[in-house]
Amino acid sequence: MPEDSTTTIRPEIINYYAHGYEEADRFAADTASAASMLEFVRIQELLRPWLPPPPAAILDVGGGPGAHARWLMDDGYTVHLVDPVPKHIDQARARGIEASFGDARHLDTPDHTYDAVLLLGPLYHLTERAERIRALNEAARAARPGALVAVAAMNRYSHFLDQAVKHTLANSDVHGVIASTMHGGVYDRPGLGFTTSYFHTAADFRDELTTAGLHTAALHGTEGPGYWILKTIEKRANIRIAIDSAEFASALAAARLADGQQDLLAVTAHLLAITHTADGMPQPQGIKSDG
Ligand SMILES: C[S@@+](CC[C@H](N)C(=O)[O-])C[C@H]1O[C@@H](n2cnc3c(N)ncnc32)[C@H](O)[C@@H]1O
Repeated sequence: MPEDSTTTIRPEIINYYAHGYEEADRFAADTASAASMLEFVRIQELLRPWLPPPPAAILDVGGGPGAHARWLMDDGYTVHLVDPVPKHIDQARARGIEASFGDARHLDTPDHTYDAVLLLGPLYHLTERAERIRALNEAARAARPGALVAVAAMNRYSHFLDQAVKHTLANSDVHGVIASTMHGGVYDRPGLGFTTSYFHTAADFRDELTTAGLHTAALHGTEGPGYWILKTIEKRANIRIAIDSAEFASALAAARLADGQQDLLAVTAHLLAITHTADGMPQPQGIKSDG
């Protein structure tokens, strides 16, 4: 395959995860912020009801250091994780996860092998629609007919909201970058944290899923509006809010209450789509979540 922008991982993305940011800290018990834990708890409670019963085979594409793969294995699933960042593969293996190098746009996986496929991260870093569709097609190809394909996207307005929380908007020099990311979804200029990325509106996310032949059973705001409140308090006071606190319980309740309100998808940090491939519709299994 020729190497172009849709077949290579941009070096700044690899460099960001390899040297600039410790992804393994994001959901770690001793380092995670309550804002991050809200994402973690919500992903568990939103996914569990749709997963096939264990021991089913799950492919975790862009699984990073394996935060989700680990709890899925603890739930009794067989998980294979793929990621393009060697450090993440090493970190996942150190946690007992079967992991290999992989790119969401061309998976080294036979057709229709997995009972469920997770794509919780790769779309964040694919700035061109064609490469996002390719990643979605690959996830669908790896999944058995009718299987669950769970896909996460970053909400279009989360970059803007994040900058508001960090008070960077007081500096008008950054307004151009923020406005252009909000307008077109692509963030490709360093200086405001994170790395090259794409932010979806709920409408363009739905459209891409449909274009890739995936049927969307539910589209959730992962964290809901309370995420920004947790993040603001934690940043301002330089503290970590405990997940057994009233503040965390309130933010979690806000995310649950916001679910089903389409307009409120614009104020979450991430979107989580519960989709399935053709030939069948996964049914929620009614497994109670810990969240
Ligand atoms: C924010 S992390 C999310 C990790 C994990 N899935 C989670 O939800 O905690 C994004 C992940 O996507 C991976 N990634 C970036 N581009 C990718 C691509 N083209 N194919 C597969 N994974 C990719 C990164 O290496 C990183 O591990």
